[in-house]
Amino acid sequence: MQRIFSGIQPTGVPHLGNYLGAVRNWVALQNDHDCIYCVVDLHAITADHDFRTLADQTRDLTAALIACGIDPQKHILFHQSAVHAHLRLAWIFTCVARMGWLNRMTQFKDKAGKDRENVSTGLFTYPNLMAADIHAYHATRVPVGDDQKHHLELANDIAAKFNHDFERDYFPNIEPLILGPAARVMSLRDGSKKMSKSDPSDQSRINLTDDADTISAKIRKAKTDPEPLPTDIEGLEGRPEARNLIGIYAALTDTDHAAVLRDHGGQGFGNFKKALADLLVEKLSPIAAETRRLLADPGYVDGVLRDGAQRAAAIANPIVDEAERIVGFLKV
Ligand code: TYM
Repeated sequence: MQRIFSGIQPTGVPHLGNYLGAVRNWVALQNDHDCIYCVVDLHAITADHDFRTLADQTRDLTAALIACGIDPQKHILFHQSAVHAHLRLAWIFTCVARMGWLNRMTQFKDKAGKDRENVSTGLFTYPNLMAADIHAYHATRVPVGDDQKHHLELANDIAAKFNHDFERDYFPNIEPLILGPAARVMSLRDGSKKMSKSDPSDQSRINLTDDADTISAKIRKAKTDPEPLPTDIEGLEGRPEARNLIGIYAALTDTDHAAVLRDHGGQGFGNFKKALADLLVEKLSPIAAETRRLLADPGYVDGVLRDGAQRAAAIANPIVDEAERIVGFLKV
């Protein structure tokens, strides 16, 4: 069975983009894969973070993942800082990856913006740690949203260079799984920007913790254009906001853009937004309620993470021990 690995940062509340682009697919993949899912708190400190709340956010996100349907008994759910193998392999990869490769990462350019001299060095080497996360488990399939594609290509480049330099076919090639009609959910305020935790406007995203009234209000106010919905996909050309809302609807109903347009094409946005808001409330409210229920006993979530870290370390430690031997470290 192929091993799946994926991760999510514990900064801010998870949003609809995280859910539809990643977590929902993680849940489905549990049926026929061995899955390892990680709350990546080491990545969270590459940008300014709130040290007072990071531990709570790690716990909250873990509860939300379980509420979404991640099964921490059949699979592994843990937080990154608890398994040191990630850091050991990240260091090796930092010495394998080339400056030029990291310089080309679009996420770094986007996140650093004009302030390149002032961001942390961790933000620059972020993709090395991400490659280590995956390769420490010899995972071969990685379900992510579309925005992580470049990072996964880099993870393959690093593995190939490691194998070449040290003359061993040690790290396998990984296959990105970018799935479904909502692999890139866009901001509700601007169809050209992705939905993101770091957008200053809360109106731009649906948080998994939003209540029914908030969800309905955000969808009602979502930016659209004055035309009715088109009846076929070609009609979405040049209409990013319409495409985004149709994609969200399609993902939540397990169909595709064309099927949604067959049912709703020709309508004005008013009716469609109402249907979409009702659907979101129906799908997301149980997740918020279950998250709250799980967090009522923080001991439960901590126990899940402790157990997950032990099982993760049991897989990663021997793989990284061998990588260290291959690099030439003395093991006594
Ligand atoms: P993060 O925490 O930004 O996002 C977690 C997952 O959600 C997806 N995602 C989206 N999908 C669709 N539309 C959006 N607007 C949207 N926003 C986020 C992301 O693609 C991601 O799959 N670097 C990663 C975390 C990571 C990781 C890894 C992933 C660390 N190590 C190893 C895979 C394998 C990140 O910051 O994701």
